[in-house]
Amino acid sequence: MIRIPGDKSISHRALLFSAIARGRSRIRGLLPGADCRATAEALRTLGVSIPTLPGDGSEIVVEGVGIEGLLRRPEGVIDCGNSGTTARLLLGLLSGAGVRVVLTGDASLRSRPMGRVTEPLERAGASFEWLEEPGRLPVRVSGTVVEAIDHASPVASAQVKSALLLAGLAAGVPVTVTEPGRSRDHTERMLRRCGARVTEGWSGDLWQVDLGVERAGEALEPLDLEVPGDPSSAIFPMTLAILGGVRGGRTGASPLELKGIGVNPTRIGALHVLERMGARVERSDEKPTAADSHEPVADLLIHPGALEGTTIEGSVIPSLIDELPILAVAGARAQGRTVIRNAEELRVKESDRIEALVRNFTALGVEVEDFPDGLSIEGSDRALSGQVRGYHDHRIAMAFAVLGALPENRIRIDDPSLVEVSYPDFWDALDRLTGRESVGRPPVVTLDGPAGSGKSSTARAVAEALGARHLDSGALFRAVTLGLLEKGYPETEWGALTLSDIEGLKVGVEAEEGRFRPTIGGRSVGAAIRSARVTERVPRTARIPAVREWLLQLQRRVGRNGGVVVDGRDTGTVVFPDAEVKIFLTATLQERARRRLLQEGEEPSPEGIEAESKRLAQRDHQDENRKIAPLRRPDDAIVIDTTGLDFDDQVRTIVETVRSAGDRG
Ligand code: S3P
Repeated sequence: MIRIPGDKSISHRALLFSAIARGRSRIRGLLPGADCRATAEALRTLGVSIPTLPGDGSEIVVEGVGIEGLLRRPEGVIDCGNSGTTARLLLGLLSGAGVRVVLTGDASLRSRPMGRVTEPLERAGASFEWLEEPGRLPVRVSGTVVEAIDHASPVASAQVKSALLLAGLAAGVPVTVTEPGRSRDHTERMLRRCGARVTEGWSGDLWQVDLGVERAGEALEPLDLEVPGDPSSAIFPMTLAILGGVRGGRTGASPLELKGIGVNPTRIGALHVLERMGARVERSDEKPTAADSHEPVADLLIHPGALEGTTIEGSVIPSLIDELPILAVAGARAQGRTVIRNAEELRVKESDRIEALVRNFTALGVEVEDFPDGLSIEGSDRALSGQVRGYHDHRIAMAFAVLGALPENRIRIDDPSLVEVSYPDFWDALDRLTGRESVGRPPVVTLDGPAGSGKSSTARAVAEALGARHLDSGALFRAVTLGLLEKGYPETEWGALTLSDIEGLKVGVEAEEGRFRPTIGGRSVGAAIRSARVTERVPRTARIPAVREWLLQLQRRVGRNGGVVVDGRDTGTVVFPDAEVKIFLTATLQERARRRLLQEGEEPSPEGIEAESKRLAQRDHQDENRKIAPLRRPDDAIVIDTTGLDFDDQVRTIVETVRSAGDRG
């Protein structure tokens, strides 16, 4: 049995509400995914002490500061990462509470519309300064909500609704929101749970929510709650089970049991659609409103079975909006055609999901047609193989991972790390359910070797050819150096910096074609890390013990899902001792000397080569014997001698070696 991680929507709200409540909250089962970590970090920036989110869902305790306890001018920028919920709910809360701060996010989030939240807030007195493009992050929250909020939202969006409710609560003004369909109601449930006055119901054909607030700073009661398993994550193993991909030994397809899954009616439209397509899902131990969560939960038993195509449209769309990618995958394995309409919201999710689905299906040879508001998919049972892309979108990655995990298919996703957003253990779960190893993702490849052996120059091309990404430690040392300079730490004190100083620089990585690009505070560092000022200081940075510790953690976090080519001196021994494929590059001293001279723009004369060879021999000796990250050849590495191979030959040889060593479909 596998454990489904905590509900993402409820986890965000539990963190926010416990932070602004008065008193001590206890929360169990929180999702530790990157989106919720972004909310936790934002709250820390606002002055609330939030513990590290535990990986196993164990309890955390939050001392609420009350709305008035939030820092009115927090230091630094709030980076919402990939999380639309973090950004939109905070826009509401912070403009209601009169907090002045800049919010930003990753490239995917910076392209998503924020005006749907800020426009109604502006009408109630708030103001926002767009720092780049109107209606897109980054934005500075710069004025406070002062009047009652009354908004008819043109889209059924829980994020819009929740942002306005939080704004009203913080500002002490009443809120009325209507929406054209009923979006998820976790905020309303939690507000009631904390003692707020919320009413809701149909008003004609609009769903209306009212919050009665009399004054600013009305106290919320603290929470004691267990977050249910996320139905939007459970849907991936469920669909795998229905399609026959869960294997219990030699007996073929097995049923799957999942415990404690949220079955809030505003969230389980996909379950009903799968049942309509022919799936058999038994519910047991159903608790209509589990006392400690105020959310209904149940255990599910999912049986394998054939599916038939269907049409998904109209009022059900909000209740399955996040499940449409995996429902489209179910459609690709059903008999007949599956049609999705009225789902234009898919275009403004973490990716344009209609386009992402159509491109990936087309790459696999599945027949699809796109509409402005949806798509249609022609089902078949043909074996599918090929490379697909995640498009910065966790749900696109997981949907195609499920398709690829069916025994007859061979599909690889370019960015396995995307699952971190909402389902950090997804790949482990997939391996356990299918009984196979490393299904659907490129391996971790370590590329070690002495200076001039060709590792750093070839790494990106190797990664690209494997559908993976190069994690360039050199570029990360540069980004840290830039961060240290920008922060103004005196250079004489760099050696004494602590891990939390380095973490405070907010250096991270963003995935792009073939590599992970360094970021500072969520923004790409660009060419600034190549300046002479940075270049001169990189060796010093690389010797700071806290920087090495930080890098090791980052490398392991990024590589934990595979799909990474990492080069260095100890990546196969220290960083990834369990890497699927370890390559150790060598070349003769003369050849390495020749390459280094060419790199430095010098003509490699025989005398020049000889002098450089001597220098390299000394450097090898130092590299092998230095204290920090000494050069080591892993015992289980494949050694490739690149002497006499030009760049293209080197890349080809490494790629072929990796393919034959690590080919596990
Ligand atoms: C969410 C609401 C939905 C959903 C998102 C989470 C929430 O977005 O797609 O994954 O937690 O409120 P919209 O409000 O934009 O529909």
